[in-house]
Amino acid sequence: MEFGFTEEHQMIKDAARDFAKQELLPGVLERDEKGIFPTEQIKKMGELGFLGMMADPKYGGGGMDTISYVLAMEEISKIDASAAVVMSVNNSLVCWGLDKFGNEAQKEKYLSKLTTGEAIGAFLLSEPEAGSDATKQRTTAIDKGDYYLLNGTKNWITNGSTAKYHIVIAHTDVDKGHHGINAFIVENDLEGFVVGPKEHKMGMRASDTHSIMFTDVKVPKENRIGADGFGFSFAMQILAGGRIGIASQALGIAQGALDRSIQYAKERKAFGKPIGYHQAIAFKLADMEIEIEASRLLIHKAAWLKDEHKDINHASAIAKYKAAETAMKVTTEAVQIHGGYGYVHEYHVERLMREAKLTQIYEGTSEIQQIVISRNLLKD
Ligand code: CAA
Repeated sequence: MEFGFTEEHQMIKDAARDFAKQELLPGVLERDEKGIFPTEQIKKMGELGFLGMMADPKYGGGGMDTISYVLAMEEISKIDASAAVVMSVNNSLVCWGLDKFGNEAQKEKYLSKLTTGEAIGAFLLSEPEAGSDATKQRTTAIDKGDYYLLNGTKNWITNGSTAKYHIVIAHTDVDKGHHGINAFIVENDLEGFVVGPKEHKMGMRASDTHSIMFTDVKVPKENRIGADGFGFSFAMQILAGGRIGIASQALGIAQGALDRSIQYAKERKAFGKPIGYHQAIAFKLADMEIEIEASRLLIHKAAWLKDEHKDINHASAIAKYKAAETAMKVTTEAVQIHGGYGYVHEYHVERLMREAKLTQIYEGTSEIQQIVISRNLLKD
């Protein structure tokens, strides 16, 4: 068993940390307050190779392992979770999905642009009436010979207005249940593709979340991913990988909140000494560290399993659950440690607390992770 990082892992972690401090930190409060998408910063992330880290170098990807990816995700998320979710969706759900299941032509046409940031991707599963219960897709893609005719509405789409290529999950045959679901690559300039208004969110306010409506969109036949009826299995497998990315995001948010709390606890004095030397605060810091370290180990284990091509369904659900719950607890404590300062914008921890909340919701709520974990325990 090996707990250390290779020199390459350390370099990637350092590069992500430096980028986050130099390029993301300066405007992060303003982007959060005004809901401004980090366009320039995402472009630079693409140039630096942070948007297609695990994808095949043949298609512009970094060819890196998942450990590298989670290390970078943690560093970016410490500073700017909105930029991190763009990175997570593009890397885990879109690039990894196409790399693993796309055909040669799809990889050449789409993946090579997505890995470099020339185009951003989105993953469209959720619907107004199909969130956690993902088999209940109402969006339909009817086979018309040369093309599929796509109709329906998707909700809560990260990168909704910025993505050029959208991976859309839709029913091609409702009578077949989840075996009649397929996944398609849909370009955003097709006729009938309409982006709804931007959502005003509690946190991750700089990320770009929209509903997307399809009215008689003609999707080329060759844009279906995998064999007919593969779409639900595709979505589930992609999400199992994606959950490792979101777990790393939650970890970064929690670590960012702890780092700020330690600094504040050393500087802020009350009753004659820095508050960190009062047991009430010291024990909070210790508890935060314990939860964070436990989350990190679970994430690294899930990432390692993925790199070993082992089943990640169980491990990624555990990692995502633990890291998201930890992020919520740790950021709440961070606000408490900061007292009144914690409740105002400039000290960042209230933003981190708002960001933490979403990690318990997207890419499968904490309750969905509990379903996945408990079903695995109970299956024969
Ligand atoms: N890999 C492969 N196949 C899988 C699988 C996996 N990880 N999980 C389930 N399946 C297969 C099952 O084997 C089964 O196939 P068969 O019938 O052929 O045996 C089929 O899928 C249905 O499985 P279930 O009966 O277990 O399905 P269910 O309806 O009970 O739901 C669920 C399972 C785990 C709850 C699933 O619906 C789920 O994950 N829901 C949450 C959806 C989600 O995460 N949404 C997030 C939206 S995306 C997002 O947030 C992105 C963003 O922008 C940040």
